[in-house]
Amino acid sequence: MTIRLDYTNMMATPIDGGITDAEWRDAATRFADVHAAVANEYAGGTLGFLDLPDDRALHQQTLDYVKEVRRHAGSDGLTDVVVLGIGGSALGPIALRTALRPPQWNLLDAAARQGNPRLHVLDNVDPANISSLLARLDLTRSLFVVISKSGGTAETMAQYLVIRARLNEALGAQQAGKQLVFVTDPQKGALRTIARADGIAALEIPSNVGGRFSVLTPVGVLPAALMGIDTGELLAGAADMRTRCASKELGQNIAGTWASLQFLADTKHGRHIQVLMPYSDALRDMADWFVQLWAESLGKHRTPGDAGVGPTPLGALGATDQHSKVQLFMEGPGDKTVTFISVEEGGMDVEIPKLHADVPELAYLGGHRLGELLDIERRATAGALARRGRPNMTLTLDRVDPFHLGSLFMFLELATAYAGRLYGVNAFDQPGVELGKQFTYAMLGRADADAARKEWDLLPKPDPKRII
Ligand code: PA5
Repeated sequence: MTIRLDYTNMMATPIDGGITDAEWRDAATRFADVHAAVANEYAGGTLGFLDLPDDRALHQQTLDYVKEVRRHAGSDGLTDVVVLGIGGSALGPIALRTALRPPQWNLLDAAARQGNPRLHVLDNVDPANISSLLARLDLTRSLFVVISKSGGTAETMAQYLVIRARLNEALGAQQAGKQLVFVTDPQKGALRTIARADGIAALEIPSNVGGRFSVLTPVGVLPAALMGIDTGELLAGAADMRTRCASKELGQNIAGTWASLQFLADTKHGRHIQVLMPYSDALRDMADWFVQLWAESLGKHRTPGDAGVGPTPLGALGATDQHSKVQLFMEGPGDKTVTFISVEEGGMDVEIPKLHADVPELAYLGGHRLGELLDIERRATAGALARRGRPNMTLTLDRVDPFHLGSLFMFLELATAYAGRLYGVNAFDQPGVELGKQFTYAMLGRADADAARKEWDLLPKPDPKRII
């Protein structure tokens, strides 16, 4: 099996305050309904992310486009790809680059990158970052991938306007359009309209796939393919995980098991904070991707105006955070679960030289390997947490490759769909971010934001007596 889950340390034996056998039996009964509800939603056509592993036409559309771009780039080649996007339109490409390309990808020379381009992902509108990137890019050898499901997100549109103006100015409007590709809804939104009007290449995010569930559409697949990643394997891994989650039996369904454990830990045992902690630099950005998925999908009102539900996700990195957050996990409030991610075959390893045999603080390390140290530290931390009654579990990947990454994405997406049902919320909307957006529109003078402007004007203004 490509991904395994060990949840021994989540249960009442051995963890004092862990999930009891009775609760687990009850969860198993409840899961059959949850599974059926998700299957019904899928049958109703709303869970498009589950179809992506089989959507050969969509995948081919992306591969054909990549071939075309490479052909046009000619012998000089494409040096840089810049993703313009935010949230679900940016975190997947970042996680894919970190996991599936060699470390420090953007610092490697073209030969080490085997002729594949660097990948920059803006994911914000911080002017310092964008100006610095623009100052060092060769625009003629750069491709700008504008990703927005809605096709109108303020931050992404602002990034686009800055880049488009720069391209128009430097290369002329005609050539500017050739350095751009849009990834957006097949029909709706401003990007689609501009693509049609200006003849800009545009790939599709199926209308029934939401932003944070879109990594296996061209949102993640296009940047991955441009960097030379085997995207067929990515989708095959996702398909494999989907098959593994076909069962309504909790013990047979790995994503259902993980979601149910997290749900019980939160709602029955006060473990409101749920940490994802890979012991692998390659997987460090998977934690950020997960945090957005879990937070935006599950933090909701069940009914308007109620107190709200949802676990708080937190990312951490082993062994680095053993010198930071782990103190809090061990001795702070007992309100957390920790899911470690371990990688069985780490690829290359580095032997620790046997130097300073007479210095006890160093001598014991010599002859071991760095990968071995990393793995032992993970096991030691899991054991130490268990010893203190802190629930934790471990996901083990055979290795980090496109197949396992696809599997991990699908695992977390399915777990989120199940968790949405368990919490009784719609995991696929995000009404809570709307008011802030409306206030932004009002302050920027957007024509349709009058109501928000009025509401904004009623808010208490900063009190000079309370500013020090
Ligand atoms: O998951 C979501 O829906 C959001 O986080 C979006 O990805 C984010 O708001 C960007 O939206 P869009 O892709 O429409 O620009």
